[in-house]
Amino acid sequence: MSTPTRIVIDTDPGIDDALAIMLALASPELEVLALTTVGGNTGLGNTTENALRLLHLLGRDDILVGAGADVPLVRRDSRPDEATHGADGLGGVRLEPAPRGADARGAVEMLVDVIEGSDRPVTLVALGPLTNVAALVAARPDVAARLERIVLMGGGARVLGNMTPAAEFNIWFDPEAAARVFAAGVPITMVGLDVTHQATTAPGDWDALRTDDAGPVARAVLGMVDHYTRFYLETVGTELTAQHDSLAVAVVVRPDLVTTRPAYVDVEYTGALTRGMTVVDLDDVAKHSPTADVALEVDAAAFGELLVSRVVELDRSLR
Ligand code: RIB
Ligand code: CA
Repeated sequence: MSTPTRIVIDTDPGIDDALAIMLALASPELEVLALTTVGGNTGLGNTTENALRLLHLLGRDDILVGAGADVPLVRRDSRPDEATHGADGLGGVRLEPAPRGADARGAVEMLVDVIEGSDRPVTLVALGPLTNVAALVAARPDVAARLERIVLMGGGARVLGNMTPAAEFNIWFDPEAAARVFAAGVPITMVGLDVTHQATTAPGDWDALRTDDAGPVARAVLGMVDHYTRFYLETVGTELTAQHDSLAVAVVVRPDLVTTRPAYVDVEYTGALTRGMTVVDLDDVAKHSPTADVALEVDAAAFGELLVSRVVELDRSLR
């Protein structure tokens, strides 16, 4: 097998973030160097505690966690998405406390140290609002330029919004940060709603975990998935839940899961109705240089099989 891809995950766990972190740690193709946390699905205190507890659950107290921004760069009227993820961010699933806290360095300083300290390129996987990533780009553009790529879950090209008709949550939460990230000149893969809305799992997909000898990972996954499913049934009338963040991780594991097109992407942050919209010039109308590889199609069946099989295997390995 080839050398694992080194990644840092910036995240706002978050139910789908939690499954994405599990997928990353269950994938031998990846080496997870650190997690950094951001406010989004729930406040920073919860996202940081959730990240620490998830790593403890998975036997990975060795992976450092750096806490970042709780609020967006500019706006203060962004609000957590606690309807989807619950007030605690994990659908009410209680995990054992971790035996350690977040690293004293904080997210941006940790990102700098990890990227500078690696003798191989690092990929930044961004699963939440882009506040920390924008802060890294502003503070140390030289270090951001050393990134292999930023693979971000966010936005949409033809499927625009899940927070408003025009905006996806991660971009909506901090559109000024997102605009700075897309303009930073770092290679970006944008995994947006065009593909994540197809990257779904059904409750029955997780039946392999519903056994009498289910381990702690299985119990946590089932608790989170059940909460997530109830939300989807109540709000959109389907039991198919979008595994947005896991698809971003899966794209690092298997880039062939999605079909991308290079395009100029910018972010609207002044519009009354369009705040947080990713404006994706798929047909190169404005003749700007592309700023991202935008995922437009996905092999949803292959993604679902990868996610579920690896999380099930992870549970079995930790029983
Ligand atoms: O729009 C989906 C994104 O917003 C995911 O990252 C989810 O965790 C929420 O943060
Ligand atoms: Ca997220």
